Amino acid sequence: FTTFGSTKVVEHTFYVQSVIERRLCKDQAITVVNGSFPGPTIYAEDGDNLIIHVINESPYNMTIHWHGIKQQFSCWADGTGYITQCPIRPGNKFTHRFNISGQEGTLWWHAHTGFHRATVHGAIIIYPRPGRSYPFPKPDEEVPIILGEWWNENITELEKQLDVTGWGPNSSDAFLINGYPGDLYSCSSNDGRRFLKVPQDDQDSGLQLSSTPEHLKPGTFKLRVTYGKTYLLRIINSAINPNYFLAIADHKMIVVAADASYTKPYSIDILVLAPGQSYDVLLVANQPPQQYYMATQIHRESTAEIPNSLPASALIIYENAGNSPPKFPYLPDMYDTQTSFNFFNGLSGLDTGPFWDPLPLEVDEHMFITVSLGLIDCPTPEKCPKNNGMLMVTSLNNESFILPTDKLSFLEAFYHNVDGVYEDDFPSKPPLEFDYTSSNNGDKECWSKQSTKVKRIKFNSTVEIVFQGTSCGKGENHPLHLHGYNFYVLGQGLGNYNATKHASLLNFQNPVVRNTVDVVADGWVVIRFRADNPGVWFLHCHIEGHVPIGMATAFIVEDGPTLSTTLPPPPLDLPEC
Ligand code: C2O
Ligand code: CU
Repeated sequence: FTTFGSTKVVEHTFYVQSVIERRLCKDQAITVVNGSFPGPTIYAEDGDNLIIHVINESPYNMTIHWHGIKQQFSCWADGTGYITQCPIRPGNKFTHRFNISGQEGTLWWHAHTGFHRATVHGAIIIYPRPGRSYPFPKPDEEVPIILGEWWNENITELEKQLDVTGWGPNSSDAFLINGYPGDLYSCSSNDGRRFLKVPQDDQDSGLQLSSTPEHLKPGTFKLRVTYGKTYLLRIINSAINPNYFLAIADHKMIVVAADASYTKPYSIDILVLAPGQSYDVLLVANQPPQQYYMATQIHRESTAEIPNSLPASALIIYENAGNSPPKFPYLPDMYDTQTSFNFFNGLSGLDTGPFWDPLPLEVDEHMFITVSLGLIDCPTPEKCPKNNGMLMVTSLNNESFILPTDKLSFLEAFYHNVDGVYEDDFPSKPPLEFDYTSSNNGDKECWSKQSTKVKRIKFNSTVEIVFQGTSCGKGENHPLHLHGYNFYVLGQGLGNYNATKHASLLNFQNPVVRNTVDVVADGWVVIRFRADNPGVWFLHCHIEGHVPIGMATAFIVEDGPTLSTTLPPPPLDLPEC
């Protein structure tokens, strides 16, 4: 650390490289940062300036995005491929410079080109600035916990599968906790591709732990704890696809922050994380000194097929633990949408302290955005063998977003007034109103157009968005993530959103503030934010396979009236396409 006046500078160099990692008893080439998977953790304090040099030694085009960092007046550092910068080509580099302020807790960084974020990711931990402390009792220790996924194939193959089928790439071969799948996986279990239902009524029997000799085991993350101590778990869902339930046998968890924004302390048995989301959770080691499993179960909509991977598990091992076999936690059924829903509805923001901004009550810009699977005319017959001339896509307001990858980034086009990169007429409403939750929705409702449309927003206007999930296709959950902002989540529910009927369900007092919200199939979410950060900000589903087929747009927030509310000029080393 070096110090500039009163502002501390945190400087890192990220070498992006290809390495061989062994998981599920097989070697696989993956792309990582500084040789480690998950990648290095960035520690900073609220108020710090960050300087991160990204040196691309991998064979792929690459950008690194700082997920959830607000990037106030530093949109050029956001690291979003083709939106805020062209990718860093192999052998080239780019330096990100930005300030972190007004947020504390856990965020993460990840690649923002193709599917590389599957292995190119790590935690960002933001501590209080000197003289301040947490709004909860100081924990004895802190532990980053990154939930991820593993494929027995090269990640770049996933993009090709998407290209050929027009639909989801192969699901992963293992779920991971801090890079390891845990004891349920073994070398012999069909290379890990085997589904095992975790017993729920009789938690102590029937669980098939592998009897593989230790040196052949695929690996387990182990957290050693001491009775009586409190641990701050900084948990991130970095996965490409799944929503996770996470539980620890016999232990409660207390959520104190979501997406690096403090929450009212919220005591739970089961944590729910959509892709992209992160939580700060207190764990008190107050149970008999034994071993306990922490485990994940995926959450899917009832129409989804059963995945072929087992739950990921880690071990919590008390000091002086006896020899009894570790206990496995109760996990909800994978189709248990109610548990997920109750969890999200129970979250509220911490409406005291230096980070709380009261909710703006006047709304300048209302948007209603359907979040949907959809259909388009098949661009080439090979792409849609099964669908009689139609191709399945994803869309927002029936616009299926295409990201041009041969031009200037959107931000450069906006800054230099260059036409032809995007159109700025993204609709504020869907083309037609219908029963979004009816399974009878036909071509008319679900039909989409491919386009590259963004929405322009005036500086400092208050924007309210109703996200409406639909049952087009078969309906799926979509975790929507907005760059450059935190937003208030006023409420969520099932069915068609109706302003009169649902107003009483909204929280105008202390809504949770976050950067990624799960829009459930056939359900709605209302968010609000003040557009006080000029630049081009990507809005997209955080299920990676949904982005290249259209579930994205961008908000262009115009400059404010003064020099200090204006986006500064681009850095000189900004990569070219
Ligand atoms: Cu976590 Cu646009 O990304
Ligand atoms: Cu999605």
